[in-house]
Amino acid sequence: MSVAFSGLDFLQQRNSATRLTEPGPNADQLEQMFLCALRSPDHARLRPWRFISIQGDRRIAFGELLRASLLRRDPDADQTAQDRALNAPLRAPLLIAVLVSPREHPKVPVWEQRLSAGCAAFSLTLAAEAVGYAAIWRTGAFAEDQQLLRDVGGAQNEEFVGFVYVGSRDCPAKPIPTLETDDFHRVW
Ligand SMILES: Cc1cc2nc3c(=O)[nH]c(=O)nc-3n(C[C@H](O)[C@H](O)[C@H](O)COP(=O)(O)O)c2cc1C
Repeated sequence: MSVAFSGLDFLQQRNSATRLTEPGPNADQLEQMFLCALRSPDHARLRPWRFISIQGDRRIAFGELLRASLLRRDPDADQTAQDRALNAPLRAPLLIAVLVSPREHPKVPVWEQRLSAGCAAFSLTLAAEAVGYAAIWRTGAFAEDQQLLRDVGGAQNEEFVGFVYVGSRDCPAKPIPTLETDDFHRVW
């Protein structure tokens, strides 16, 4: 049996990038990334995910929404915190908000659909690396903000799963921690 070592290396060496810069994926590469995300495991094929990409000057508008979100949460937020919120989207050329969009289904509870959307977010990080870039999945308090969700066009029943930041790596790759599989796995 042949083993796809290059595929294993790719999966085992995946490495989020905390600093990202230009360039980001072009339209064709982004399309490829979404096609990967759409292959996420999905009970009953409900497709319980949505993606909202934010790039270019739209990141500035999104930063304004993040500052407004911060001020709703903490009306006394100081200027430094406000600037951090305002500039957060500029930390990468491309942000992809990943939403879970739960459907009613007799056999598929919402928690399963959240996992599916999480798989899609992870798939986007992998696909970003596969097309030659780097990524990081972020959440934080913004991901809990229903008003922010509505501001970007989310529906009442949807939730953020996270924001996948994508661009060119602007930091050394982190050393990959050595973990022992036996610490996480046992034969039953
Ligand atoms: C649901 C979820 C939310 C996360 N939120 C954040 C976050 O808000 N900020 C952050 O720096 N990392 C966050 N992370 C962790 C990073 O995506 C990443 O896993 C971490 O930097 C470790 O890097 P590595 O995955 O390459 O080991 C989150 C991960 C997950 C799965």
